[in-house]
Amino acid sequence: MSSSDSHCRVAVLGATGLVGRTMIQVLEERNFPVGELVPIASARSAGQAIPFRGKDFIVREPSAEAFRGVDIALFSAGATASREWASVAASEGAIVIDNSSAFRMDPDIPLVVPEVNPEKIFREDGTPEKIIANPNCSTIQMVVVLKPLYDRYGVKRVVVSTYQSVTGKGKAGRDALESELAGEPQEQFTHFHQIAFNAVPQIDTFTDNGYTKEEMKMVNETRKIMGDDSISVSPTTVRIPVYGGHGESLNIELEKEFDIEEVRALLAGSPGIIMQDDPSARIYPMPLTSYERDEVFVGRVRRDYWHPQTLNMWIVADNLRKGAATNAVQIAEVVIAKR
Ligand SMILES: NC(=O)c1ccc[n+]([C@@H]2O[C@H](COP(=O)([O-])OP(=O)(O)OC[C@H]3O[C@@H](n4cnc5c(N)ncnc54)[C@H](OP(=O)(O)O)[C@@H]3O)[C@@H](O)[C@H]2O)c1
Repeated sequence: MSSSDSHCRVAVLGATGLVGRTMIQVLEERNFPVGELVPIASARSAGQAIPFRGKDFIVREPSAEAFRGVDIALFSAGATASREWASVAASEGAIVIDNSSAFRMDPDIPLVVPEVNPEKIFREDGTPEKIIANPNCSTIQMVVVLKPLYDRYGVKRVVVSTYQSVTGKGKAGRDALESELAGEPQEQFTHFHQIAFNAVPQIDTFTDNGYTKEEMKMVNETRKIMGDDSISVSPTTVRIPVYGGHGESLNIELEKEFDIEEVRALLAGSPGIIMQDDPSARIYPMPLTSYERDEVFVGRVRRDYWHPQTLNMWIVADNLRKGAATNAVQIAEVVIAKR
């Protein structure tokens, strides 16, 4: 760290966005040892004040100078900005934790969920990697649940359907829903079609194989994080008009036989998971109740009606928290704990 005490200089690139603002909130809530906050955003926001621990910090535009002396740089300004600034920040001495898709599938850059593969944060010599990628929000919540099942039973195949919050598309995604609900005319639809009162089975653009880029992120990132290319993920990703979190219906085929009560106990005791599974009392996870929470909520756990070695469940997590900001801050916590 650059300062003599235990306090770090922390930069947030994308500080005025939904994820960036949540990062700053999470840093404050988790009492991360921030000595100085360096909020960075585009020229549109330069000069704006960002409150943190009762003090205002002024937003700057990205530059080598802005990253000078920074210990931890949390990036959430999109892939183009990450490609432009990650190596600059790293060469200024920062450990970059990047929320964009820019480096996730780069074989030289680790893709980390602290509940799953925290060891990837460090090189063999024990020093932290200079750039660490944060996975896609829909992947993060799924692998938190897959990890304990994988370790105990092995995971063969996952069929996943997502129900994703409009906040997954940032400020523009949230504002589009509000504007549509207010009946304002739309020049073009941010979510490809009207999202108010609708469900749109397209997140990001389609690839040649008929899956969207969002779906292929779930396929490829899951294998990389779990360190197992034999896991087949079969996703359908859908945008729905909610705030507060992404829901996922999971159908998970395991390698070994399981006892359903043992599965519930295993998940309940696993890091980052809260069970909400009492259907008779109408208790199950929902976006509204996972809003502003850091955990992955799991419910509706049951054996597949037709396939005895397969599980069904419904999981929800706040995409701006565990799906982005909290996961990044957790990585930063692992980095500084070792210093
Ligand atoms: N939303 C989610 O659930 C989620 C989950 C996981 C990962 N992510 C990733 O996190 C990133 C940000 O997402 P978001 O939802 O927070 O988006 P957002 O609300 O649209 O915010 C984007 C932020 O990036 C800044 N920015 C854009 N272009 C920039 C540039 N060229 N230089 C500097 N700053 C720039 C914006 O600054 P201005 O305010 O000045 O425009 C704003 O602070 C994206 O890469 C996204 O894929 C998002």
